[in-house]
Amino acid sequence: MITDTTVPSPPSPATAPTPTPATFFSATEARTDQWRQLCAVARVWQAAMARGASEDGLFTDAVSLFGELVPLEAFFAYPGPRLMSAVQGALAERNAGGCARLVQHISSALLTGAYRHDRAAWDPLQEDADHAAELLPPDLQAGNGHRPYFETLVVTPEDPAQWERARHLLRRLRRSEDAFVYEALQVGTFEDAVIGVICNPNVQAVVIRDGFEYRSRHDLPLLREFLQRHLKLDEAGTEPGVLATALARAIKGYRPELDLYLLTDRAVESLAGSDEAAPLRRVFHNVEEVMELHLAILDGVNDRYETPYFDNLKKYAQRPIGTFHALPIARGKSVFRSNWIRDMGHFYGTNLFLAESSATTGGLDSLLEPTGTIKKAQDMTARAFGARRAYFGTNGTSTSNKIVVQAICRPGDIVIVDRNCHKSHHYGFVLAGAQPYYVEAYPLTEFSMYGAVPLTAIKKALLDCKAQGTLHKVRAIDLTNCTFDGHMYNPARVMEECLAIKPDLIFLWDEAWFGFARFNAFHRRRTAMGAAAALTRKFHSQAYRTEYEAFKATIGSIDPGNPAVLRTHLLPDPDAVRIRVYQTCSTHKSMSALRQGSMMLVWDEDFHQVEGCFEEAFFAHTSTSPNLQIIASLDVARRQMELEGYELTMRATEIAFRIRREINQHPLISRYFRIATPAEMVPGAFRESGIRDYGWPHATWRDLVDAWDRDEFALDPTRLTLICGGAGFDGTQFKGLLAERFDIQINKTSRNSVLLQTNINNTRSDAALLVKALADLAREIEQRLSLGGPEAQRAFDARVTSLMTDVPDLPNFSRFHDVFRDDPGGASNEGHMREAFFMAYDEANCEFVKLASPDIDERLKSGPDLVSANFVIPYPPGFPIMVPGQVITSDTITFMRKLDVKEIHGYHAAQGLKLLKPSALAAHAARTGR
Ligand SMILES: Cc1ncc(COP(=O)(O)O)c(C=O)c1O
Repeated sequence: MITDTTVPSPPSPATAPTPTPATFFSATEARTDQWRQLCAVARVWQAAMARGASEDGLFTDAVSLFGELVPLEAFFAYPGPRLMSAVQGALAERNAGGCARLVQHISSALLTGAYRHDRAAWDPLQEDADHAAELLPPDLQAGNGHRPYFETLVVTPEDPAQWERARHLLRRLRRSEDAFVYEALQVGTFEDAVIGVICNPNVQAVVIRDGFEYRSRHDLPLLREFLQRHLKLDEAGTEPGVLATALARAIKGYRPELDLYLLTDRAVESLAGSDEAAPLRRVFHNVEEVMELHLAILDGVNDRYETPYFDNLKKYAQRPIGTFHALPIARGKSVFRSNWIRDMGHFYGTNLFLAESSATTGGLDSLLEPTGTIKKAQDMTARAFGARRAYFGTNGTSTSNKIVVQAICRPGDIVIVDRNCHKSHHYGFVLAGAQPYYVEAYPLTEFSMYGAVPLTAIKKALLDCKAQGTLHKVRAIDLTNCTFDGHMYNPARVMEECLAIKPDLIFLWDEAWFGFARFNAFHRRRTAMGAAAALTRKFHSQAYRTEYEAFKATIGSIDPGNPAVLRTHLLPDPDAVRIRVYQTCSTHKSMSALRQGSMMLVWDEDFHQVEGCFEEAFFAHTSTSPNLQIIASLDVARRQMELEGYELTMRATEIAFRIRREINQHPLISRYFRIATPAEMVPGAFRESGIRDYGWPHATWRDLVDAWDRDEFALDPTRLTLICGGAGFDGTQFKGLLAERFDIQINKTSRNSVLLQTNINNTRSDAALLVKALADLAREIEQRLSLGGPEAQRAFDARVTSLMTDVPDLPNFSRFHDVFRDDPGGASNEGHMREAFFMAYDEANCEFVKLASPDIDERLKSGPDLVSANFVIPYPPGFPIMVPGQVITSDTITFMRKLDVKEIHGYHAAQGLKLLKPSALAAHAARTGR
């Protein structure tokens, strides 16, 4: 990941951050790079020795590379003291061959992960085995009897000379019955413990023995600053007596999934019941129960490893079951015995069919009314994602959004919503009869896309409602975090200020793209559930009460007529405020769930008021035949994220940094392509920190954390907007080209860009594939232009200008027609969209007008209003430029006429725009009295 001084560089000696404890955020990747580099140097050194050539410089390089690794390796169990001293010995003897062999042995074990199960990897005398097969997919491997491996960090005051003995003791406790294998590693101070959990993702459990020191022997000014600023900890403020529990709190704040154990001489009985001990899984009375501790460690990991639904489904698949229900494919007999579709069985494998059932018995539970394994899996999901409740969805977040909207909204309620949100929200409002009050995201016209909705726009909407007496009808705020293009809100700030205006507001955060964000401390600060937890803590604190009293004394009550209210950071009344947060996420988009696997997460202090409605909405939208494999994959995705989400999400972020830098700094590629920077995606007004770009040499790690803490919007680095207009490609064309020629699939497109995304699946080879493709294309363009002469250059420039400069303005939401508004003169813009939507079901109410027809221009000039009968959603950009009941303005028509995309949902060019007839609108007005 990122260093605290620099964001990572490629593994070249000139730029790579040295993996020392001071560079703890980038440690894992930089560390393997460093071992590989040492391996390369040792081999060249060995070859030079064999040739009898001069080798002094190579020897010095090897010594220095190894020297840099030594302090960092103290935070990892592997390679461990034995292998490290073997390498040191080989260097001391100037034994190039021995050094090369040992370093190759270590480097390959690190790369393949062989040290997790192969004892030979730990032995300096063993030959290096070939572990390449371990990276193959499971069905291509000979067998998989390995027990999962992890590391336990022990924080201890014990003399380091005794550490090996203690590790040996823990190893002796291993039994064949153990489900997992772990190695222990020790550190002696508070600061070293924090570095250990930050830089070693193998750590799953931390054993804290009372009595250790605070300060590391390493020189770590940046760690100290990090602890002070982000964990509010420093040596002076941490009394010796509470060091252990302060450490537990710090670790939980950073990696909440870890199990923490305290070994102490103190009165464990009273300590165990105190708030201080809340982050601890168990408190032991010093070392009197080593076996208990060992079992507790295994049990803790098992609690995360367990996948109740998946485990049961696997068991179910092994049972001989006769099925008389309506799912012939279950058990596979209709497939395996078939003359004609046996290839389906071959392709998908036996288990898929054995694990199919339409039954809800046999421990399979019912998604519609879970009481067994699904219930348990959902509860574990809530724990993992930091929610109070969790529900599984098997039809994508498209359906999850409709469920939540319908659960929280009653007909007539007003929902303040980003007009640019996914269409499932708009359809949700139609179904629920809620009135959307559309607020606009800031436009990024240059890239034909929107950013996110400024907080002032949201506050203004609430204040407008307050001014016109409709605030009581505002039920929810519905926003997308992060947006498709990576704009992350500051959810805590948004909720805090909105709750100051209406303390019982419900928030629906569509985090379809952002589920992974829970699993590292950096993204987590920008998630809905992270914010719900932070606000709950804050509003319950005495310090907040004092802050609130001071705030109230200066601003008084919140008066919508007072212009200062929009500019002031508003604070809610701690006695009135309710935390009511819903988050939907497409687990399948960022975690290892099958397509359509989705989660609904709830942190609602008043959920008892919603639970019944939630159930109804869930019934309304959920199939009575939910897919068992999707449910199982949600269970497994949760397990993975709780055990390795930290490592995987940090790595995905690091790969994104590498891609960003490689493309934007590449002398040839950057002539035609570039990745949009935070400065391009987030206007300065919302980027208080002033951060312009991520990664070395633009921003330090500290700058990034600062920006993510303070700025109104931050850009998720894993979402990479690749501008291809400069190479003469529009987004759709470029997407096709990447897929056809380079086998690269990407996410969405805009007029002049494509969106790439790194996730937990990506490797550095994927990054290399992309960079190579861009370099090839850039070379081809250069060649074409040089062969084609000035004429080709002119045509190319014209194409680039049309893509990059002549971009159509994005049309804002205009307004609902008066007949759909309760108060047409009011400042707010909500409307009864559902009425308009269903009016269009009657053909007699509708008319069609061709887009090119002069009738449109005539009506825009002199009326009657053009009123859309349905949603019109062009892809790209993918948001509705017309919604039912919306008055169509010239901006929208100009945009439509300039659009050169093929896919426009809700519009058929041959028929034209579907409009509600003026006569139908008049009749509706008469009926409703509006
Ligand atoms: C913001 C947002 N919400 C919801 C969805 C729908 O999610 P799913 O594809 O899981 O149905 C999408 C899909 O692209 C989306 O971008």
